[in-house]
Amino acid sequence: MPAIALLGAQWGDEGKGKATDLLGERVDYVVKFNGGNNAGHTVVVGDQKYALHLLPSGILTPGVVPVIGNGVVVDLSVLFREIDEMEARGIDCSRLVVSANAHVITPYHVQMDKVGERFLGKQKIGTTGRGIGPAYADKMSRLGVRVQDLFDEKILRQKVEGALETKNQLLVKGYNRKAIAVDDVVTEILTYAERLKPMVHDTSLLLQRALDDGKVVLLEAGQATMLDVDHGTYPFVTSSNPTAGGACTGSGIPPTRIDRVVAVAKAYSTRVGEGPMPTELLDADGDRLRDVGAEFGVTTGRPRRCGWYDAVVARYAARVNGVTDFVLTKLDVLTGLEQIPVCVAYDVDGTRHDEMPMTQTEFHHATPVYELLPGWDEDISGARAMEDLPKAARAYVESLEAMSGAPISVVGVGADRDATIAVRPLI
Ligand code: GDP
Ligand code: IMO
Ligand code: MG
Repeated sequence: MPAIALLGAQWGDEGKGKATDLLGERVDYVVKFNGGNNAGHTVVVGDQKYALHLLPSGILTPGVVPVIGNGVVVDLSVLFREIDEMEARGIDCSRLVVSANAHVITPYHVQMDKVGERFLGKQKIGTTGRGIGPAYADKMSRLGVRVQDLFDEKILRQKVEGALETKNQLLVKGYNRKAIAVDDVVTEILTYAERLKPMVHDTSLLLQRALDDGKVVLLEAGQATMLDVDHGTYPFVTSSNPTAGGACTGSGIPPTRIDRVVAVAKAYSTRVGEGPMPTELLDADGDRLRDVGAEFGVTTGRPRRCGWYDAVVARYAARVNGVTDFVLTKLDVLTGLEQIPVCVAYDVDGTRHDEMPMTQTEFHHATPVYELLPGWDEDISGARAMEDLPKAARAYVESLEAMSGAPISVVGVGADRDATIAVRPLI
């Protein structure tokens, strides 16, 4: 059986959690392959609402094996807090598997993230402050602590010492902060070792065997294409690869085993943090999208920047990820608008760009070329088939499909699991 990658087409918060949860019953493994607790996925099941950060969204489906892949950075205090919260609500987390090669976010990563942002001042990224960037920086500098290091105290101590040597210099001399003691960090990390040990596996091998046995593996991204460190709006990005290639490196599953790439896109655009966003609305229309769409971050509570759908971004996501299907979410939020602008191209200093401009300078200068599509007034939250949608809503979905470079296979018309139109099956 194939593996399926599920990722974000825009700047995150597209509704990946809901989409993963929807596929839950047809999936055997759900693998988080990148990022860490910078993610925030809201899943609504009946009258219960869950906010997941580090745990894969598959945790909510009985029988699914949730996997934290090697590409993830794990804050162990957050992991166990989230497990405890879930278990207190009756969600069984005993099936959770964690890669021995996943990296650990330590207290010094969190501190470096916060202090680094403060010192960037106006140039700040607007990170979630969870230590994500510094943890990935250590990974690439070969100074990282991995999950497997928790089971060899001598190695753990060596690694923490190595990582803190230059960081303490920087903290004390550059940032005017106190030095961090190696012992404190090692002691804290070791408090998690015993509880973590039974969860730790060679997840690449586990997943390969599962695929050989005909199981269905869903690779679930945190963040999104435009936040990818290689393909996003660098430097206003996260520090991992939430794109389809990252699904392979972050899980240890080869590209030849992935034959479906599902991208989740909102029927409009949102972004949290700094960086360019051509369709951003700084007016009453933006406020309306934020209010009706409840666009406030799950992780930091920050109001999300809102704007119209950007088909250039969608086409770019389709190309970079090899998208086979789109899941279009939050169509219901657009109900009540007379006309809905959709960005079909950019004007960059007088030149029309139908594709993503090559440089960030051009992207910063991009202003949207809009096409106006007719809106609708009818409540669509009860629609369960395309035929149930008013003509204009159907035409909106069809227009987006024609502009975005891949078929729209699922349409979301509400936050609940059931508030979904399945146009064609994803598995
Ligand atoms: P993720 O990070 O991609 O998983 O997305 P978030 O959970 O951060 O943000 C998506 C929000 O939209 C959540 O609050 C979902 O419950 C909600 N949501 C998902 N799909 C729909 C939909 O079709 N309509 C509406 N109104 N809300 C939705
Ligand atoms: P989900 O999985 C939206 C943004 C931050 C910041 C930038 C870098 O819920 O879609 P980081 O802390 O990762 O170094 O911050 O990336 N960001 C997200 N924005 N949704 C997310 O995750 C995000 N994770 C990080 O706001 O601009
Ligand atoms: Mg989110």
